[in-house]
Amino acid sequence: MMINVFKKIIAVVCFTALFAGTTLTCIGYIHADQGGDVKRGEMLFNDPTLGGSTNDKSCGSCHPGGKGLENASGNIAEAVNRCIKNPLAGEGLDMDSQEMKDIVAYINSLKK
Ligand code: HEC
Repeated sequence: MMINVFKKIIAVVCFTALFAGTTLTCIGYIHADQGGDVKRGEMLFNDPTLGGSTNDKSCGSCHPGGKGLENASGNIAEAVNRCIKNPLAGEGLDMDSQEMKDIVAYINSLKK
């Protein structure tokens, strides 16, 4: 009898923990999707294939470690696509894409 009550309590605790874990994971995903991920942005920044680039340059070729972008202001996404289309000779990123959000998050993280 006592054992059964005990088992039930454990089951409820386990279920709650599992549910809370799932909820937190979901919130984490939603957050990352909306906000952009600085680490991923940094990887893309140094990726010479970004945005359909047709040469061997990456953003880091001209802005090593993001240098010179600390004061970037205005429409950063448009500046990013301008640099993809001209120096990288690429097609540019979809404005709403996760890649664009990640790169913008990275550039915003450089602000002092
Ligand atoms: C061949 C060199 C070169 C490459 C490669 C390059 N850029 Fe640029 N970038 C520049 C120059 C020069 C400027 C300043 C002139 C301008 O704003 O158009 C600039 C300006 C910018 C700005 C605006 C800065 C401000 O102060 O407003 C951003 C943001 C930027 N680049 C991001 C990027 C990103 C992201 C990439 C990779 C997709 C990239 N750049 C690749 C040369 C480059």
